[in-house]
Amino acid sequence: MSFLENYTKKIDDGLKEINLPEKPNNLYDPLRYFFTLGGKRIRPILTLLAAEKFTAKDSKIDALDAALAVEIFHNFSLVHDDIMDEAPVRRGKATVHTKWDSNIAILSGDVMLVKAYQYLNSYPSEISKKLIDVFNKTAIEVCEGQQMDMDFEKRLSVEQDEYLKMIRLKTSVLLGCALQLGAIVGGADLKAQNDLYQFGLNMGVAFQIQDDLLDLYGDSALVGKQVGGDIIANKNTLLMIIARQESNEKQLSSLEVLLKKVDNNKKIEGIITLFELLNVKEKCQDLMNNFYKKAEMHLQEIELKNEQSGLWALTSLLKKRSY
Ligand code: IPE
Ligand code: IPE
Ligand code: MG
Ligand code: MG
Ligand code: MG
Repeated sequence: MSFLENYTKKIDDGLKEINLPEKPNNLYDPLRYFFTLGGKRIRPILTLLAAEKFTAKDSKIDALDAALAVEIFHNFSLVHDDIMDEAPVRRGKATVHTKWDSNIAILSGDVMLVKAYQYLNSYPSEISKKLIDVFNKTAIEVCEGQQMDMDFEKRLSVEQDEYLKMIRLKTSVLLGCALQLGAIVGGADLKAQNDLYQFGLNMGVAFQIQDDLLDLYGDSALVGKQVGGDIIANKNTLLMIIARQESNEKQLSSLEVLLKKVDNNKKIEGIITLFELLNVKEKCQDLMNNFYKKAEMHLQEIELKNEQSGLWALTSLLKKRSY
């Protein structure tokens, strides 16, 4: 993602410069650890790019704090998500709850959430208020999506519409929010804020479908997560939903048998074979591409297609991403 390196560096540096107390170590070490693990920094880059579109040349207002708030909130959601998903690896390293323990991961995640608010609160009060209103709505929606995701693990099947609603809440709204916060800091009007938000929502749905695909078909060294984690956790991802839609009765019952397998490698292997037979991967990719197209239509409303411009370039990088 070379053209975005300047932006990534800005975020990485901003996170490094956060002044955290030394003690209690078990509270703050996980934050220091997690903030330096890397990550693509997509959401804060969206905030910076959105702000740049509107910020007047002589303006003294910087979108960096809003961008950091978004990234820190995202990191908080990942630390807690990894407890909920029992994930051992994140960004190529041990998850906080495996390196320390779940209580520590809960509490250091909580501190991250509060830190995010501190950054949002650093603007003149009329701007901070607008930022926090959008952020609050988003944060609650993310929790709703995360709860639906966990509820779906226990369900035998989930409809595609329910799944799309769940991923809109757990993932897409934060991309929309990241853009809207940038637009607010930049001084954009409500129509422009909304156009950017809609672009982010559609990108976010595509992004989460891609995340589901990479969970199974990605290279674990690149993705930095355990491959097949969603299958192990019995997630009703789009892959599973499409597999059920496409299966005949015999295939459906063999899928149920596979899902009960205790040996995770055998479970994943068997399910991959069935997915191949049913062209699940291609069908997911089709749906994902539809959402990328919708996102691009919204982006076109905001600015004419130009691969040199930040938001277009980021979109085309995301479409091709392998991690
Ligand atoms: C992972 O997000 C969580 C999802 C919503 C899919 P990213 O893929 O952006 O994770 P990092 O920040 O780059 O590690
Ligand atoms: C997570 O979705 C969305 C969040 C709100 C954190 P996933 O559970 O699929 O994200 P990964 O795959 O662990 O990054
Ligand atoms: Mg999850
Ligand atoms: Mg997860
Ligand atoms: Mg995932």
